[in-house]
Amino acid sequence: MEPLTHPLLDEATVSQLRATLLADESSWQDGRKTAGYQAAEVKNNLQLDRHSKTAKENSQLVIEKLESDPLVKSFALPRHIHGVMFSRSGIGQGYGMHVDNAYMSSGRSDLSFTLFLSEPESYEGGALCIQTLQDSKQVKLPAGQVVIYPSTSLHTVETVTAGERLVCVGWIQSYISSNEDRTILFGLNAGARALLAEHGRSPELDLIFQAYTNLLRRLGS
Ligand code: NI
Repeated sequence: MEPLTHPLLDEATVSQLRATLLADESSWQDGRKTAGYQAAEVKNNLQLDRHSKTAKENSQLVIEKLESDPLVKSFALPRHIHGVMFSRSGIGQGYGMHVDNAYMSSGRSDLSFTLFLSEPESYEGGALCIQTLQDSKQVKLPAGQVVIYPSTSLHTVETVTAGERLVCVGWIQSYISSNEDRTILFGLNAGARALLAEHGRSPELDLIFQAYTNLLRRLGS
């Protein structure tokens, strides 16, 4: 399954969010505290204390944006968006090769997301590299854009060599745990929605939407 990259927050929302997060200086702590066994050795960054008011309020904002986005909904089929945290990497900080834990106290990870909050020109390095079968896909997006990718992938965050990288990361427990099934459903839904936009409703399209909905019901958990 290909990662989805998508604009999520407008410019004003991003600058406001960035200012709010950075202003809460006392709530940033060492990222190794929240890493799994395999990840703790390769993790090197700062994270906003999840229990802080700033983290709670702003992760809720990100969750609401993701949940109300039609493309994200169709791509990810989210049942539960969880584990949302804000992370900062300065010079020399990055995150070595790892796979995200399958189960967390907050839910199962079917999809992982990174919402970029710093403008790409403001730091060097810091790309998210997602391993594919033969090479890797480098992702470094404008502030406000999100990448959603299968949690089954090995990935790294390149070491930051200048500036600071601020992101929001989190996980999606999908109604459809299989990447393959979810990809088929996404294609079917995209096709049906495009037909609807172009030709309006029809009895034939009703049948396609009926089949889509019933497939979702059958495959989902
Ligand atoms: Ni990760």
